[in-house]
Parts: sequence; structure tokens; C-alpha cells
Amino acid sequence: MDQLNRRTVLRAGGTLGALGAFTMAAPAGAKPLWTWSPKGSVIGAGNGADPRGVWDTEADPLVASILDRGDAPKVNALLRNWNKNGQPLPDGLPADIRDFLERHRQLPAWADTDKLEAAVQFNEKRGLYLGVLYGFVSGMMSTVIPKEALAVYYSKGGANMKRRIARTAKLGYDIGSRNAYRADGEMIVTSLKTRLAHAGVRHLLPQSPHWVGAAPEDIPISQADMMVTWHSLPTSIWRMLSSWGVRMDPVESEGYLHSWQLSAHMLGIEDQYIPSTWAEADSQAKQALDPILAPTAEGIKLADMLLDLGAGLDFTLLTRPILGALTRYMLGDQVAEWLHIPREPVWGTLLETAWRPFVAVREGLVLNVPLAPEAAWMFDEFLRQFVLLYVSELRPIKIEIPEFNNPN
Ligand code: HEM
Repeated sequence: MDQLNRRTVLRAGGTLGALGAFTMAAPAGAKPLWTWSPKGSVIGAGNGADPRGVWDTEADPLVASILDRGDAPKVNALLRNWNKNGQPLPDGLPADIRDFLERHRQLPAWADTDKLEAAVQFNEKRGLYLGVLYGFVSGMMSTVIPKEALAVYYSKGGANMKRRIARTAKLGYDIGSRNAYRADGEMIVTSLKTRLAHAGVRHLLPQSPHWVGAAPEDIPISQADMMVTWHSLPTSIWRMLSSWGVRMDPVESEGYLHSWQLSAHMLGIEDQYIPSTWAEADSQAKQALDPILAPTAEGIKLADMLLDLGAGLDFTLLTRPILGALTRYMLGDQVAEWLHIPREPVWGTLLETAWRPFVAVREGLVLNVPLAPEAAWMFDEFLRQFVLLYVSELRPIKIEIPEFNNPN
């Protein structure tokens, strides 16, 4: 590409993606160009605007107005018992939010019930791993996504990391349930409430002097940021399971992807940014997620709180050393060093030597591997304790519009 074209392209900025996917070195200090093409999205088209400059054009002004006119406590109270996808909205909601929720509770035209059925199979077969993966791949990864770590730390929920994990776990639980998007499921409501919570954060954080002093941006949670976090969930889990050699049935893994594509849509991510396939998701994650991972002082503190997730509870294997070793094993040495997580010789070695054989046996990939029965028992028990933790400790959570920032 010659200089003139290069300058033209740099100036075109937002519409570049529409030209198709290609890579180009960015000038020193400049943001790398957004080059992922909307042709790879669930709708195969879009204006390709750089998602780092797009937020939620509909929910943001609505929630800002609800907060400014003092309606947030009333709206939160009314929505507290609105949980099921098919449940009528409560009486007494202000007309603007009622109208928003009625319109956006509808699934998009590309929703596919057969794929959602296949997702159920995926979740049932891989359910035992998913608790650990959502918690200690996605959850821990969120602490090295700098903009997310800052937003979480300085928002209301950052004051209580365990509660926040509980809330995010609700989303993982709802999306994995059999009836996630059916009338008696909860995923549509959970996603919509999260969309409102994010709009609240966009309005409140710019009023937090702590956040303003630390953040590299004026408004948090752009469309690009949401895709980054999205990749820390399904894409990272898909990558992790693939790296363990788990053979995923293509129809089932596509179903799992579909359940997350729908969740992205319901969270207010524009369809043009939602990848259509795992290959597209992987290519977008290479551009959007992988290069931006880095430590922050806030993320280090959040990770520290996360390692204490099992503290004071009756789960003998959810201890700080084991969770630390798990983080190092799953996310690698660099992330562990960034987060100041010490090496755990006993647990680290056990994971390195026995985890993959354990998975291989569980998955029926090999019949006989030299795996100590104690190790197999321990991993089984560990996974079971994680599932129990979600069910017993992290379940009854209501997602709300935050009304203030982290006071600390
Ligand atoms: C709130 C999930 C993207 C920052 C929430 C909640 C859920 C959730 C379930 C409600 C529970 C709670 O209040 O903690 C997701 C998912 C995302 C995503 C599935 C993407 C697919 C992001 C991004 C950021 C972010 C990109 C920041 C850059 C926050 C903050 C809250 C929140 C600050 C409010 C916490 C509070 O103060 O109570 N998110 N999130 N989220 N999210 Fe996200």
C-alpha cells in the first residue's frame, strides 16, 4: 500500500473495517487500526465503524436519564422480581424503560433454536469444566484486561469482588441452563439487566475522580471492550478445551458459540461485531484480546480478592495456593507473574503432570494412562467443589443498575 493510500486509510479510521480484513503496521504511539471485517459477523455486513469509538446508542441515554431523574431505585426495585424471559414486565415501570425492554427482549432474526438445543448438549457434556473455566480462565483473565480491571475496581461492584464474581457467575449459570433463551429461562432478562448495568457504569464512572485519574479513556465499556470481555469468556474457553485435546462435536460447539452470540446481541453488542464462527472469533480475539492483556495495580488487587474466593467456606480444595497454581497453569507464567501469584511447587507440578492425562481419561480419549488415583480423585473433587460453590454460594443474585461508584 503506498503512502497516499495509507494516509487516506488512517483518516478513514472508523469505516476501515468495511474495506475488509488486512493488517498494517501502525505509526509509533498510534492505536493499531481496527481491521476485523463485519463480513465475518453473524449478519455478514455492517459499516465497520471502529468499535473503540462506539458505545450503546440506545441504552446509554435511557439509563443516564433514569439515574439523573432519580428513578434508578424505583426501577431496580420493580425489576427485582422480573426474572423469567417470558414474564410480563411489572406494572409501574416508567414508559421509556418499559418500551426499551419490550423491544429488546425479542431475539434477533438469526436466532436458531436447533443450535440452542446443541448448546444444551455442549453444556451438559462439558458442564463440569465450565465452572472452573468461567471462574479461573475468564474471571482471572478479566483482571489483566486493563480497562475492565479499572472499570470494575472503581465501580460499585469493585468494593466487593466476591459479590461481583457471584453476579458474573449468574450469567454463566443462566447461559448454561437447559431453557436459557426459552420463556421459562432467565438468560434474556440477565443479559438485558447487564446491558442496563453497563449503561449505568458508562454514566457513573466519568463522575469518579479515581477512575478519571486512572483510565485512558473518557467513557468506559465501548463495543470493542465488550467484545474483549466476550472473548475472555467463550473464545478463551473454546481455546482452552481445544488445547487440552478435548474433542468437541462441531455441531455442539457451534451451538455453544450461538448461545454466546445471542448473549452478545442481548447485551447490546452490535451484530456487525459478533463473530459468525469460531475461526472468526479466534481471528478477532487475536486482534482485540491477545495484544491488550497487561497488569494494572487495580487488576492485581482484584486478582488477590479472587484467589480468596473459597476463604471461610467449607471447600477444602478451593484454597489460595490451589487457585493460584490453577491460574498459573491455565493462563501461563506471564499472567501469574503480572498478578504476583507465587509458584506452588506441589500443586503446580501436579497440574502440569496430571491434568491433561486426567482430562484424556475423562474424555475417553485414552483408556490407560499412568495417573495416580489420588490425583484423579482430587481433580474430580476439585471440579465438584467448584460446581457446588456456584450452586450454594453464588446463585441468588439480582443484577441491578448501579447507583453509585466504588466509594473507596
Ligand atoms: C456489570 C457481564 C463486559 C464492566 C456486569 C454484570 C454482568 C456483566 C453479568 C452484572 C453484574 C454486576 O453488577 O457485577 C459482562 C459480560 C460482558 C461484560 C458478559 C461482555 C460480554 C464488560 C466490560 C467492562 C465491564 C467490557 C469494562 C470495561 C462492568 C462493570 C459492571 C459490570 C463496571 C458493574 C459492576 C458494579 O458496579 O456493580 N457485567 N460484562 N463489563 N460490568 Fe460487565
